Amino acid sequence: MKRRTFLQRSAAAWPVLAGLASPAPAPAQGLQPLALPKPQKQGGKPLMQALAERQTNRNIGEEKLSPQMLSNLLWAAFGVNRETSGMRTAPSAMAVREIDIYVFLPEGVYLFDAAAHNLKPVLAGDHRAKTGNQAGVGKAPVSLVYVADLDKYASGSGPMRVTDAAVQTAWSNAHAGFIGQNVYLYAASEGLACWFRALIDNAGIAKLLNLRPGQKVLYSQGVGHPEKAA
Ligand SMILES: Cc1cc2nc3c(=O)[nH]c(=O)nc-3n(C[C@H](O)[C@H](O)[C@H](O)COP(=O)(O)O)c2cc1C
Repeated sequence: MKRRTFLQRSAAAWPVLAGLASPAPAPAQGLQPLALPKPQKQGGKPLMQALAERQTNRNIGEEKLSPQMLSNLLWAAFGVNRETSGMRTAPSAMAVREIDIYVFLPEGVYLFDAAAHNLKPVLAGDHRAKTGNQAGVGKAPVSLVYVADLDKYASGSGPMRVTDAAVQTAWSNAHAGFIGQNVYLYAASEGLACWFRALIDNAGIAKLLNLRPGQKVLYSQGVGHPEKAA
């Protein structure tokens, strides 16, 4: 695609796609919505220091994150950073914003609603161990699962409609990668351990979350305090 065409699409994308609803959640079995404190947008380590400390640490302890940390983490991941336009901390092609973040906590699974900055209930129960195939995955107090809603690409009209599967795959993976790096940098800034994963049971997670065929589970990412040495 020519650069100018891409930029034209990007500029026009937000109003066209703003009305698309979030995916219908599976039955939440009595799980209540979770309010998040207002995110703290100041502080943290300087960017260059956070970059210097960014790393994968698979030794994540069981200690819970405070509500404020969870709020800040999700805002850093893909929160709204421009209130008037609703734009986010991570870029997405044509501002389609097809990545949904499912937040796996000990009490249940929630969907991050960036506009409301809260967590919508999806599924009760502790399903954290299902967010990866490696040992220790279930210990992290928070596991994020990145799901691409490819139906959002196909819902556009005219030049906004992207139906090429290879393009959808490339763009949604880039989008998830930006979010993942935001999470890595927030973790580095706060001294948290962070673990991005492609080795996951994509089909199993999709079934668990009752996803539509157009929703593709891409990656997961565990975050928590580093495991304390015994
Ligand atoms: C696309 C992608 C998929 C990854 N999948 C896994 C995974 O399934 N399991 C895992 O332990 N690490 C996974 N990682 C983390 C990498 O192993 C890690 O980033 C790499 O070893 C470099 O280490 P660093 O992140 O500390 O720089 C993944 C990283 C990326 C970018």
